[in-house]
Amino acid sequence: MSDAATSFDSAQYRSVFGHLPTGVVVITGRSANGEPLGLTIGSFTSISLDPPLAGFFVGRTSRSWPLIATRGVFTANVLSAAQSEVCWRFAKDATDGSRFSGIDCSSSLNGSPVLPDVVATIDCTLQDSHMVGDHDLVVGAVTDVRVLNAALPAMVFFKGKTGDARIES
Ligand SMILES: Cc1cc2nc3c(=O)[nH]c(=O)nc-3n(C[C@H](O)[C@H](O)[C@H](O)COP(=O)(O)O)c2cc1C
Repeated sequence: MSDAATSFDSAQYRSVFGHLPTGVVVITGRSANGEPLGLTIGSFTSISLDPPLAGFFVGRTSRSWPLIATRGVFTANVLSAAQSEVCWRFAKDATDGSRFSGIDCSSSLNGSPVLPDVVATIDCTLQDSHMVGDHDLVVGAVTDVRVLNAALPAMVFFKGKTGDARIES
């Protein structure tokens, strides 16, 4: 473990990383009693092709993730640029299941909620979790991948705002 000296404060750290664009997913799953759960995540990424692994970093204060993890499966819902409301809804504090109110979800192969009008879904079985600083690195074995709406531009998060990942060809 290194305790390297730093040349910046946490506000600078956040600001500089705000200049690094990320995609946005909502990680969905279910609690042990079947209640739908989800949270907005910008750190989701492919890790390995053979075997297929994907993962994300989740803060240790997350309320939804430990409940999803008890069932051992989750789905990454890749948001479209038009889903800003969904992005913020699943990022705001909510302990009463209200994140899903008024949303008509379908189901992924692993039984997780699939949000309507998402660009793609990636189903995972929880393989591993590593404590890293104040976050956990969650590693999932990918069990199903689908592009549901190929024509929709994916969401990009940049400098604190949602935008559009369309690249002109
Ligand atoms: C664009 C965006 C990206 C985010 N990415 C992450 C992330 O990668 N990891 C994380 O722990 N929280 C991330 N968050 C914050 C969580 O969505 C937020 O803390 C949420 O309230 C957690 O919900 P929970 O406590 O129900 O688990 C992100 C929020 C936004 C708006």
